[in-house]
Amino acid sequence: MSQKQPAVVGQRVEDWGLENRQGLLIIDGVSCLDLVREFGTPLHVVHERRLQSNIRRFRAAFSGYEPGVQIFYSYKSNGIPGVLKLLHQRGEEEGEEGLGAEVISPYELWLAMRMGVDPRRIVYNGLDKPPDSLRLALGAGVRINADSLIELKRLEAVAKELGVGCEIGIRVCPQVGWNSQFGLGLANGQAEQAIDYISRSSYLTCTGLMCHVTTRATEAKPHIRACLELVRFAAKVCRRYGLKIKTLDLGGGFGVPTVKGLSYWESLCYRLLNHPPKPPKAGECQPIESLAEQILSALGRECERLKIDPPILCLEPGRIITSDAQLLLLTVAGVKPGDKRCLFAITDGGRFTTNYPLDHEYHAAFVANRLNDPPGQEYFVVGRLCSPGDWVFRSIRLPWLQAGDILAIMDSGAYFTQFSTNFSFPRAAVVAVRDGVARVLRQRETYEYMIGMDIWS
Ligand SMILES: Cc1ncc(COP(=O)(O)O)c(C=O)c1O
Repeated sequence: MSQKQPAVVGQRVEDWGLENRQGLLIIDGVSCLDLVREFGTPLHVVHERRLQSNIRRFRAAFSGYEPGVQIFYSYKSNGIPGVLKLLHQRGEEEGEEGLGAEVISPYELWLAMRMGVDPRRIVYNGLDKPPDSLRLALGAGVRINADSLIELKRLEAVAKELGVGCEIGIRVCPQVGWNSQFGLGLANGQAEQAIDYISRSSYLTCTGLMCHVTTRATEAKPHIRACLELVRFAAKVCRRYGLKIKTLDLGGGFGVPTVKGLSYWESLCYRLLNHPPKPPKAGECQPIESLAEQILSALGRECERLKIDPPILCLEPGRIITSDAQLLLLTVAGVKPGDKRCLFAITDGGRFTTNYPLDHEYHAAFVANRLNDPPGQEYFVVGRLCSPGDWVFRSIRLPWLQAGDILAIMDSGAYFTQFSTNFSFPRAAVVAVRDGVARVLRQRETYEYMIGMDIWS
């Protein structure tokens, strides 16, 4: 008997590869209540198997392309060292390579090197890379994408000082997608100016073009359009300057089906009127397999048409690797009536644990110890700060809540911990779960840690 497709995704915890055991959320054999008892809340839980299958799936989607695809995980999406270690190592035991690192700051560069990532598998992006970090990167053989003419000059000065010639990439800004402060414009001639500058440099050679055009992409179109612009520019650079572009980096930006970016109107209605945003529809997010297939065939066809050798394709995924492999558990302290029939659910999370993603995105949430209870009530879920801005969900329909219930906010694996702060409360702990065993990746901050850098005597 054919089963009817659900109209929306993310209504069941099984959509995240989790288990509903008689109403209790189980993560790879571990009960969320046991996790809460042992580690407290707020608590991020990393689902290792999901992480591993996300890497495999992404890699498989882009496999088969010659001369090859290189994948660099974007550290800014989830910079928890324990998670990064899993990404760099996972798969190695099956003979697969772990992911490389995409970094955008001297700290992230340091972290990737500290994690033992081969410098040739690190890409250093960012629009203002300090000279010290360029020195470190150049000396170690890290791939650098220059963001502006200013940076090219800085890079050239460092290469001259070190007495080394270096192959670099430039970040270009196609006409599609993000075109704010990043990169060198293709349409306005900035990218060509940069190439012209490099072609006259004794120290620099440009062998790569990089761009990053979007986030939460649900279809292949933006990546394909950017890819075609980059290939055409590579062909032009080859014709005019004899430069061979060996790598083409399309950045990250691949979406996941369970997270939806809020439209402007949805955002406004949510903020002003507390209208809950709608969950993503089933089929709204193109599977990575068909998305990759379309990008790769567009790339291959354009290279053939322009008679250039296909470049190595580099990708810098963040969200698609880690988002749905992590969730955030919060404890409900109690329920308090407000004005206009509004019911506040007070939790031990809040803006400091969820700020950026829940401002811009739809995320599903479950009452992890009452998965089988019917939806009961719309709640305004808040944190414990003395600020009306300390909301988690401005309106969400949940089963009837009581003190001690556990709220699971899904897809906390991208941009949650990165944007979190320790505003009046210590930052959340992070544990990883695999085969029925949990281990700590990040301890909850202590008060001493919170003042560890302060001087008052
Ligand atoms: C240069 C660059 N690469 C990769 C990423 C990762 O993006 P995502 O998490 O959407 O895949 C970002 C995110 O902003 C980025 O700026």
